Amino acid sequence: MCGIIGYTGNRPAVPLIIEGLRRLEYRGYDSAGTAYVQDGELRVVRAEGKLIELDTKLAALDTSQARAGIGHTRWATHGVPVERNAHPHIDQDGVIALVHNGIIENYQELKDELAAAGHTFRTETDTEVIAHLIGAMLNSCIVEGVPEESCMLQALSRALQRAEGAYALAVVNLAEPDVIYGARHASPLVMGVSDNENFLASDIPAFLPYTRDVVYLNDGELVRLTRESWAVYDSKSLTQLDRIPQRIDWDIQAAQKGGYKHFMLKEIFEQPLVVTNCLTGRLSANHARVTLPELEELSTPERLHIIACGTSFHAGLWAMYIMESWAKIPTSVEIASEYRYRDTILGKGDQVLVISQSGETADTLACLRKVKQQGAKVIGLCNVVGSSIARESDTVIYTQAGPEISVASTKAMCSQLVVLTLMALFWGRRKHVLTEAEETETLDALRRIPEQLEAALPAMREQANALARQYSGARSFLYLGRGPCYPLALEGALKLKEISYIHAEGYAAGEMKHGPIALIDPDFPTFALIMCDDLFPKVQSNLQEVQARNGKIIALTQDDAVLTLDSVWKIPRSRGPLDVFFALPALQLFAYEVADYLGKDVDQPRNLAKSVTVE
Ligand code: F6R
Repeated sequence: MCGIIGYTGNRPAVPLIIEGLRRLEYRGYDSAGTAYVQDGELRVVRAEGKLIELDTKLAALDTSQARAGIGHTRWATHGVPVERNAHPHIDQDGVIALVHNGIIENYQELKDELAAAGHTFRTETDTEVIAHLIGAMLNSCIVEGVPEESCMLQALSRALQRAEGAYALAVVNLAEPDVIYGARHASPLVMGVSDNENFLASDIPAFLPYTRDVVYLNDGELVRLTRESWAVYDSKSLTQLDRIPQRIDWDIQAAQKGGYKHFMLKEIFEQPLVVTNCLTGRLSANHARVTLPELEELSTPERLHIIACGTSFHAGLWAMYIMESWAKIPTSVEIASEYRYRDTILGKGDQVLVISQSGETADTLACLRKVKQQGAKVIGLCNVVGSSIARESDTVIYTQAGPEISVASTKAMCSQLVVLTLMALFWGRRKHVLTEAEETETLDALRRIPEQLEAALPAMREQANALARQYSGARSFLYLGRGPCYPLALEGALKLKEISYIHAEGYAAGEMKHGPIALIDPDFPTFALIMCDDLFPKVQSNLQEVQARNGKIIALTQDDAVLTLDSVWKIPRSRGPLDVFFALPALQLFAYEVADYLGKDVDQPRNLAKSVTVE
């Protein structure tokens, strides 16, 4: 997740761009850069590390004449965070500079084509390829005699029709020093408009001190901004579109939270985008196959040992069900703090998968080192590029959830589940356990989730809010689930206790009668996950045992389920275990609404840290 900004107006552009980038730093940062035209030259300044490093470089330069420019703060999703990979990138002739948030999936194909036409590349990035492509198209437009004033729009339109993947772009070009171009497809981009200056950014906080009038751009739109004007076009036909600015009344803090009350809520609502981002670049061109180059070189594990802590452990436990059923890989899932001190046994051909959002969790890292000493191959699943676990794993797969600010993990777990799904499909197909049709159908279902979830989330939140009001007086909760819903029961209980401080226990539903059933009474509610799968009748009979003892039940189930219980909460249905992508946000929303109703510090619960780097 990166932050981009573009500015054109009457003021010195560079300080304003840096200030805007600073307000986007919550999106993460490991390098930053800016480009502007001054004294007839296109200038690009980039620096590795925090924004202060870029600031220091710029302080030594005279940037006072530039009245337009672009900027970027990078949070690497892959590729090391070094200056060479920092944006902006420029085209072959050095006349175009651009910043990009997203992934160009077919960049290798485009790069090969451009290289054959004589282009030389300075970096390994997909962004540089887009810069070159736009530059090449610009040259063709000039040769064809396209009128000068529409050359850049034409060039952008032609280039973007060749680009597959996700992008939000801001572009400057030497020939038009005061003009900024932008384009969006599946990555956020918003314009801030006013009388004598206009802005383009990934998010509103970047320009909020200067204007509150915004135009949210849609996929497939291209924009041209000058000091006094802005125009939105359809990026294919270049037809100009009518857009009316919206007035925003948020303060900076609310804007950083996207208008949500808490980061946790924002991050829950970001999950449709997270699923899209996790899939980007990981499917074949026809969307029928998983492509995970990170696993290509490794053999398929004989046995898989998954090691993690907390929420990441729950993601691993959920993965066990699909690794076993889709890929027929015997899988064990271990709590890192236990595993590190056990006399664990690894067989020849076994592989270890460590899951860690932060990539810094001390116990998980210690396990990684332990198993490497035993000669095992380690796959790391991390959200933070360059983190210790990412660096020390034999191969790392990044989850691409963007920085997670709320201490309680939500979207990071969602991203882990997407990648784990892809891994199980990858190995399942490689072992011929899954047919081509099964893989394609599962991927189709996965690709539908962002849209379905986006549509479902507002109603889910309302339901969570109503249930929170009804149940937040309880002193303790039991969460029940079976099969792939068992890890979710554990996760639901964890979320509730960490942010609302209400005691909650997650249990395998079939295990309840072996002890916890003694606790059931009218004041001890049960939150049950009962999906319409083979285990439905089993969970139903477990719930009858609770009912028989006058226990209150919230049942999270699906649209077509018929149940007579105290509170039935219906969520959309997906394909088998993929139901998790609806059940998980429901659990998160319930915990969130209870905590918020009780007035707790949702984003920073007491005693907890985002990254647990001590034993
Ligand atoms: C709970 C939560 C924690 C983390 C755990 C492991 O909401 O966030 O349980 O999942 O501390 O952290 P990572 O995944 O960074 O290793």
